[in-house]
This record gives sequence, C-alpha cells and structure tokens, in this order.
Amino acid sequence: MKNYSRNSGRIVLEVDPNLKLNLYDTLAQSGDTMKEWFVREAAHYIADFKHSMDSTPTLPSTPERIITTKKQSKSSTFKVISLFSGCGGLDLGFRGDFEIFGTKYPKNDFDILWANDLNRAACATYVKNFGHDIQCGNIWDMMERVPKSADVVIGGFPCQDISVNGKRAGANGARSGLYKAMVEIIDQVKPKVFVAENVKGLLMKYNQQSLEQVLTDFGKLGYNINYQLYNAADYGVPQTRERVFIVGTRHDVREFTPPKPVRDAATWMTAKEAIGDLESEPKNLNNNHIWSLANVSGEQGNRRLKADRPGYTMRAECHGNIQFHYSEPRRISMREAARFQSFPDKFIFEGGLRETERQVGNAVPPILGWHISKAVRECLR
Ligand SMILES: C[S@@+](CC[C@H](N)C(=O)[O-])C[C@H]1O[C@@H](n2cnc3c(N)ncnc32)[C@H](O)[C@@H]1O
Repeated sequence: MKNYSRNSGRIVLEVDPNLKLNLYDTLAQSGDTMKEWFVREAAHYIADFKHSMDSTPTLPSTPERIITTKKQSKSSTFKVISLFSGCGGLDLGFRGDFEIFGTKYPKNDFDILWANDLNRAACATYVKNFGHDIQCGNIWDMMERVPKSADVVIGGFPCQDISVNGKRAGANGARSGLYKAMVEIIDQVKPKVFVAENVKGLLMKYNQQSLEQVLTDFGKLGYNINYQLYNAADYGVPQTRERVFIVGTRHDVREFTPPKPVRDAATWMTAKEAIGDLESEPKNLNNNHIWSLANVSGEQGNRRLKADRPGYTMRAECHGNIQFHYSEPRRISMREAARFQSFPDKFIFEGGLRETERQVGNAVPPILGWHISKAVRECLR
C-alpha cells in the first residue's frame, strides 16, 4: 500500500513484514540499497509510462528503454544489444567517437540499445564512461528484459573455461555455457548480424569439440558464420593480442568480410610509442595510473615489456602479476594497461586496482572493435 505525503513530497510505502524480509535478502545479494532499487524501479516505471504516451512503437516495453531515451542521436541508425559488456571495450568500438594515440575514431552508425554485465565494478565503469545505463546482473535472470528486436547483438562471452590460462572445461563449463544465453537471445531477437568474441584457445585442438558445438549452435539459428583469428596489433593496437571473432549474418544481409589489417609486424605500434609519455608520471588514482607492488612471482607475470615491440596480451586474472615496465622499476600501471588495450585516456575505470585489471584484461581493444564494427556496417548496406 502506498501513501503520498503532499507536504513533504515523500512517498511512504507500507510493506508486509515477510515481503520486506524477502526484499532485504534479495537486495543483500545484489548489493543494492533499498533506495537505489526504488529509484531505479521508479525510473523504469516513469519511462514505461512516458513511452505509453508517445509513439515509438519499435521500442520494447521493458525497463531497458530507459537506456534508449538517453543520448540517442538521430543520425545513428543501427541498434545494438550488448551482452557480457564488461567495462565496454567492444561497445566503445561499436559506438566510435573516441581518440587515442593521436588518431580520431569517428562515431559509427551504431547505438547501444541495451547492455548487461554481472560485475558491479564493470557496470560502474560502463555507466561512468557511456553516460547511459547497463543492466547489472546475471544474464539468465535478465532474459525477459532483453529487447525483442535489434539490428546487431554483440558479446564476448566469458572465456575462462576456454582460455589456455583457465581451467579448460570447454563450452560446457559453467561460464562458457553462458554462450548459450547468447544463442538464446539471438534466436529471440533475430538480429541482422551478431558478433561473438572469444580467446584464441577456442581454435586450439583441445577445444575442437567446443568450437564445433559453438559453431553448430550459432549455425542452427540460420546465419552465415564467419570465424577468424585477429591480432589486435595488425589494427593499430600496441599489443599482440589474438582473439577470435565469430560473426553471423542473417541470410538477407551481405556476408561478413573481415576488416583488412592496417599494420604489419614491421609497423606494429611499440610499447614506447604507447606509454613513453607516462614514464616519469607519478601515481595518480584519478586517471588509474596506479600499479601493483607484487614481487616477481614464481609462476607468472615476470615478463618485462620490450620498448621496441608491442605489449604482451593483457590478462584479466593475473592477480597483480601484470607485466613489468620496459624501463621503470615497477609493473605497468592500469592507465598504461588501458593504453595497451587502446582505451582513450578519458576512459576512467572504477573499482580499484584488481577490478580495473580485470576489466582492462577482459576487454576487446576499442580500436579492434571499431574496425570490426566498420566491417559489420558493410553487411548492413
Ligand atoms: C570477456 S568479458 C567481456 C568484455 C567486453 N566484451 C569488453 O569488451 O569490455 C566477459 C564478461 O562477462 C561477464 N559475465 C560473466 N558471467 C556473467 C553472467 N552470468 N551474466 C552476465 N555477465 C556475465 C563478466 O563479468 C565479464 O565482464
């Protein structure tokens, strides 16, 4: 039951005590306060109500529309659902409109309609940098909220089970099984194109069955499938990061042609070019220029960058054992790691050192995402 006090403007909710207990339990799990939950739900309600008053029939009638009402430019054409968005590396590539290494990557014809990730710190980073909402929670609990239509679905499904550094449980591992959520959403939404990103390990012999299963499941949806290994360094990212992109195109759109590399081994951007200007910069929490003090470890993370070659692959789960600087007596900072991933300096990460490390290491380098998105745009001509 609701009471509204005219004088104070406050809304008082009288809630059944049992319901209240359940509500507190649920909030405790999500980490939300009652106020945060209420404000969000109220915003959804208002957005729904406004929506029912105007005529934008293609938008879904669920809370995610709150995202679409903000900062949607009229010139943008194609709507994107972003799954496993993390801090938004791939999303930034699709959106475009960022600058790094003195190069401007212009706005693309894509707008993010709906985004989701489980990790709260990644969601906080996402909101901070994109200025629109992301649904934070387990994708399996969000299935009803996913918009019913979009032009493109993108997602880097979690790779821990497939990665050479992970437990190798394959596509049926608890995490990689999450690609099935992506399959289900593509089946519901029937986008013109989908883009799924994963680690190189997916193409390795020990993962052959997983690859076949992933391709079969995506293929059954009635899409032409292109999968290819990309080296981020070939696209202007100062890192020899290799990742697989599986791109599905609906039969009524042009098939996907992978973007052409813009550099080769002789012209790859070097570590010195990428982070040279930060060498003598003092620590600065505000721009993520902070580094782990972890000692040389017995197992991993002892590599020292070479000034004249690109950085090694940034990893999400290196527990502070990130690469050492090529000349400084320390490991690289999170800002330097973000540079190796081609995030613009304006892109600020939330959540402290370990969470930032995870977000940066998990991300698709925005520059690589930008090139992929340009090639996807060609399919939609
Ligand atoms: C490889 S990362 C994606 C990075 C992202 N594509 C980018 O470019 O920044 C995978 C993401 O899946 C998220 N994730 C894991 N399990 C999830 C779940 N059950 N529901 C939603 N997201 C999940 C993780 O928090 C992680 O951010």
